[in-house]
Amino acid sequence: MALALAALLALTPSQALPCPRDRPCTVPAISLNPVTLLCPGGPGTVTWLRTSPLRLLRFSGGARLLPGGALRLAAPWPRDSGVYTCRRGDATVACYELAVQDVGQLHVSHMGHGQVPLSPRWPLFTAWAPWQACDRCGVPGERKQVGFCYATQPRGLPRPCGLTGASHPPRGPELRVKGCWVPCGWRRGGDKPRGAPRLLLTHYPLHSAEETRLRCPAASIYSPVAWQANTTALNRLQAGAGAPRLDEASGGAVLVLPPGATPSTYHCYVGGHLAALFWLGPAPAPTPARGAAHAYRAIEAAVVGLALFLVALLVLGLLEACRRRPGALGS
Ligand SMILES: *[C@@H]1O[C@H](CO)[C@@H](O)[C@H](O)[C@H]1NC(C)=O
Repeated sequence: MALALAALLALTPSQALPCPRDRPCTVPAISLNPVTLLCPGGPGTVTWLRTSPLRLLRFSGGARLLPGGALRLAAPWPRDSGVYTCRRGDATVACYELAVQDVGQLHVSHMGHGQVPLSPRWPLFTAWAPWQACDRCGVPGERKQVGFCYATQPRGLPRPCGLTGASHPPRGPELRVKGCWVPCGWRRGGDKPRGAPRLLLTHYPLHSAEETRLRCPAASIYSPVAWQANTTALNRLQAGAGAPRLDEASGGAVLVLPPGATPSTYHCYVGGHLAALFWLGPAPAPTPARGAAHAYRAIEAAVVGLALFLVALLVLGLLEACRRRPGALGS
């Protein structure tokens, strides 16, 4: 059983693996977080079908066909659960049973706050994916672990909750967080080239009466994401009233700033690499654009005034002509 579960859990959406040809592989997922389903194999026209419930897959909205033929659902909903089949030419090369569990039912427990995960309640239990990497190095960080709701079966392997046909259980996925500290330079994958940030936002205006939500690109509940305000690292333990808050539904990929936040610089890092830089400032004061609009309105007024003046001159001229030669216009 333990071995079988380990095999199931190798298939977390962040690292979707090719599936065996003879049976669908089960992919548990958490709604509103991206899922990538691979379509293995060489050349050949890739077709994705949703075979249960049978539906044509439209590549619009959240669904996208990636260059290698993989299917990416950017923000799946529980109703997107079902069987997805990938074909190359006439051959079926992969088949996935996707179980999207409702993030609205996410149970979050932070070990640093003494919170505990849900206990199993037959036939439901949580199957945990591996702990993610520490979200930063050289300073205290946090690491997280996602867990999916599974149900034991009378015979055969446990199946994730939320597959079509299964009744909806009163239990959702889980997120577990704990503190970590890792030295810098020992990170696995640290030899990857450091690319340029994916996003650079300047003069992002702050709302004084509303929350500001910053989304770290390419981050999700499945990836280690770290935020920094000016030079201060943010984490879940320090969060208090009036402080920036990490949104749990995205695993901290979204930072929520309370109304009235001060102008600051925010960085987000995914897997230790800078992913975005946000410069937040007050709403812009009168700008050159607005000055240009003023100038445009003044020119418009001048042109209209000149036209009216010319029309008046013409009318006056006609009247003058009539007065000098009465009847001239009628004859
Ligand atoms: C960031 O630095 C600016 C300028 O020094 C300061 O006004 C602001 O309060 C700081 N923001 C945070 C969140 O510490």
